[in-house]
Amino acid sequence: MKTVGVFDSGVGGLSVLRALLSELPGTRFVYVADSAHAPYGERTASEVSARTHRIAAHLRETHAIDALVLACNTATAQAIDSLRERNPDLPVIGVEPALKPAAISSRSGHIGVLATRGTLDSARFAQLRERQLAGATRALQFSCQPCDGLADAIERHDTPAILALSERNLHALREQAGPDMDTLVLGCTHYPFAADVLSHLCGPSVVLMDTGMPVARRTREVLGESSTDTGSASPPVLASTGSPEALMQAARRWLNIHSAAQALQA
Ligand code: DGL
Repeated sequence: MKTVGVFDSGVGGLSVLRALLSELPGTRFVYVADSAHAPYGERTASEVSARTHRIAAHLRETHAIDALVLACNTATAQAIDSLRERNPDLPVIGVEPALKPAAISSRSGHIGVLATRGTLDSARFAQLRERQLAGATRALQFSCQPCDGLADAIERHDTPAILALSERNLHALREQAGPDMDTLVLGCTHYPFAADVLSHLCGPSVVLMDTGMPVARRTREVLGESSTDTGSASPPVLASTGSPEALMQAARRWLNIHSAAQALQA
């Protein structure tokens, strides 16, 4: 049985773990939430990079992982290149905002992107956006809104704050994007857990896109597993540098997983 490490600043990466568990039921997953250092979105690139390297080292030393999923857009944007350089023998799968699928499926070509400031300010995101614009056969418009505080509100399961921040950020996004926006990219792995609120505020004409399933399929390809893998699901190992209780509650609430979570000193 292969072991895959899955890592996020906090509970957001559970949205990716959910897809991984359904795509790769015969794989053992070890999920680390770096909640003691969340949110990453408003930290400097060198802080995010240092934490990402630290957690990756822990997962390699303690769990002998066969691959690592960086289930965090911010960590992918700021650390995936150096992580791959320093761990050339470890397959690392990152997540990035779904601009490409959005560009393909949007009818109007007006696409909104919600992500952390760290992701939107990164060189990697600028390149991703440029690639879509350069390769487009029609006019495309990406309107981007940094959502300071939203991942943190989701981390704390603070429903009034999630609602207020979603309203404020969608209002700001609409001012930029105009009335034709028909696709909203959730460019942070925490945001799928606010999808009900965001979808309600956007209305039925806007399609929300996240990256859980594409990342899970990519992980399956990297591991060389077939799409008919029907191994029996084993519960993931859960660990948090912050509150194990909060991680356990989030896993129960959103994934119906009832495993205990460990406290991690890293
Ligand atoms: N879930 C992360 C992401 O995808 C980070 C959110 C945060 O910690 O600010 O960007």
